Amino acid sequence: MAKLKSSYFCQHCGAQSLKWVGKCPSCGEWNTFVEEVIQTEEKEDWKSKEAKPNRASKPQLISAIVLSDEHRIPVPDKELQRVLGGGIVPGSLVLIGGEPGIGKSTLMLQIALSMKNLKVLYVSGEESEQQIRMRAERIAAGAFECYVLTETSMQYIFKQIEELEPNLVIIDSIQTLYTAKVESSPGSVSQIRECAAELLRFAKETSTPVFLIGHITKDGMIAGPKVLEHMVDTVLQFEGDRHHIYRILRSMKNRFGSTSEIGIYEMQGGGLREVTNPSEILISQREEALSGITIAATIEGGRPLLIETQALVSSAVYGTPQRSATGFDLRRLSMLLAVLEKRCGFLLGAKDVFLNIAGGIRVEDPAIDLAVVCAILSSNEDVAIASKTCFAAEVGLSGEIRPVNRIDQRVSEAEKLGFESIYISKYNTKGLDKKRYPNIQILEVNKIEQVFGLLF
Ligand code: TYD
Ligand code: MG
Repeated sequence: MAKLKSSYFCQHCGAQSLKWVGKCPSCGEWNTFVEEVIQTEEKEDWKSKEAKPNRASKPQLISAIVLSDEHRIPVPDKELQRVLGGGIVPGSLVLIGGEPGIGKSTLMLQIALSMKNLKVLYVSGEESEQQIRMRAERIAAGAFECYVLTETSMQYIFKQIEELEPNLVIIDSIQTLYTAKVESSPGSVSQIRECAAELLRFAKETSTPVFLIGHITKDGMIAGPKVLEHMVDTVLQFEGDRHHIYRILRSMKNRFGSTSEIGIYEMQGGGLREVTNPSEILISQREEALSGITIAATIEGGRPLLIETQALVSSAVYGTPQRSATGFDLRRLSMLLAVLEKRCGFLLGAKDVFLNIAGGIRVEDPAIDLAVVCAILSSNEDVAIASKTCFAAEVGLSGEIRPVNRIDQRVSEAEKLGFESIYISKYNTKGLDKKRYPNIQILEVNKIEQVFGLLF
């Protein structure tokens, strides 16, 4: 007889408690504890074999460990290949998170269809076979095949996997899975954790890579427990604005590669298309220069990216001036406005300020600061900035222009794209060999007033 035992789990962070509590002691959220029944005995493993040590390992010297020529499975999709750090590692568990409708299922089905010579199993608990077939027709990534299984019971899925022996398993999504070992309903913390643990054991024991799709809650966390993120080898985030066509695949955690990589896709009628030269599409092609538009040389992931910043400054119609920013931190915008007001004497206190980063991309690189400031000043003065000028520097609280990392990469990308001048911090010039960039004028500045004097 199985013994029934119940416990309380925080649905926000996955903390466990023996009795109900109002406030989670771990994450501080209120009213998130839910009782879930957990079965303690009669645990079946994914293949219901009797327990054995998973590896008969003994302590050994690290230098004596033989590196098995870690072969990775190449992915035809170059963006995913790079984000994963150079292909899929056998036996790895990869979690892909993203808001509903962003294109996670599309991406994974596209990957499944494009894997040549590999048996891929796409397990969906969300869509019917017909729906998946229809989507595949739309994507039409080639004449390649993949297996589709619409099922949510973990035990049944493993039975099918045992029969089929796929080389790659994709689960859409982890929140829909259900294992009989735990009594609570699908999508609850203990179900998610148990299903992920079973998949993890399966992946490690058979060296089959598994991709999990995970939903994201309103506040941007992967729904379900944080423990999921600890368990998997790689966490990828698929983000972007649903109303824009660009999507970014970002690596948040990667045991087999760097986390500073991103992949950029364009959502089209026929699926996702890799964007190999992002800078060119993020800068709108315009004939004449307009006021309020500047170009920032940022670095997203490991790649330089030139992004257009647009600002509109106008006299406030109502008493309280409005500040709004798309793709940029609003608090940072307020700070930059305060710097302009206090240190440089621009009276923006009674003005509405709107800021927009083109392409629906969210920028966190502080090197965009100077471009933002110049876009605001350009709109305020109604003087256009030459379209072949770009900026790469952070702005400090006293109005000083601060250096940013990897300046040579930024300058070289700007030069490659045909920019004629770039504004950088004076303190950034040390490691920069100007002679290597003959086609771009590098302007060194250290105060906002100085930039203002040079531009207007
Ligand atoms: P989907 O992969 O279902 O999102 P998720 O699994 O993350 O919830 O993507 C759904 C959106 O993508 C949908 O709104 C339509 C759009 N889409 C395209 O624009 N082109 C396409 O070829 C496909 C398949 C979807
Ligand atoms: Mg989906």
